[in-house]
Amino acid sequence: MTQESRLILALDVYGVEKAEDIAKQAEGRVRAIKINWPLVMTSGIGVVQRLSRYAEVLCDLKIADIPNTNRLITQKVNEMGAWGIITHIFTGSDSLKAVKEASGEMKVFGVVAMSHPGASEFMLGFRDRLLALAKEAGLFGIIAPGNNYEVTKELRSRAGTLKIASPGVGAQGGSASDAILSGADYIISGRSIYESDNPSVEMDLINEEIKQAIGLK
Ligand code: XMP
Repeated sequence: MTQESRLILALDVYGVEKAEDIAKQAEGRVRAIKINWPLVMTSGIGVVQRLSRYAEVLCDLKIADIPNTNRLITQKVNEMGAWGIITHIFTGSDSLKAVKEASGEMKVFGVVAMSHPGASEFMLGFRDRLLALAKEAGLFGIIAPGNNYEVTKELRSRAGTLKIASPGVGAQGGSASDAILSGADYIISGRSIYESDNPSVEMDLINEEIKQAIGLK
């Protein structure tokens, strides 16, 4: 299932023990495990190698710095053997180019539209320009909201070959099937899985929902 699954588990927990316990359940059930600052801050970047035993790892560091710093961060993540990395785009084409150039074989996803309510105050208004920069930089994919279907549909219609990974499913109100039908290639979900009584059952349910939605397309 790993390669075919379109589910990306957001593993926003503190500490490698807790992370590894859930990662073991994710083995064979997810396309990747996404890690973010809560886990990296408590476990160090070596957690990428540790979790890669169970699934490929997507580093959601939302990189947003000058080109040299972006390059240093991306190189380190690449050395750890991550499958992919998430970067901000709003820092501009030079910063984005630095990530792309240092990414090696990693898949680079750029944040075009976010899933939280505050995204409407600023970021959503810039999505056209952010999408254009993602295309120009030759990224692998973009992040678009799995709980704002109109925005994701619109981005899908203009994103060309870029893949779309969509957070906002579960705890932030989105449904996996609606996000897939809006054009998402990957569903990102965290709390609905790692806070559930049975994470492996929850992952199986989401995978089934995704499969059925793909069948409807
Ligand atoms: P939950 O627990 O809400 O976790 O399922 C979602 C995960 O995805 C991240 N996230 C986002 N990342 N753009 C992003 O690049 C977004 O709009 C967005 N919304 C959520 C969040 O940090 C968490 O890891």
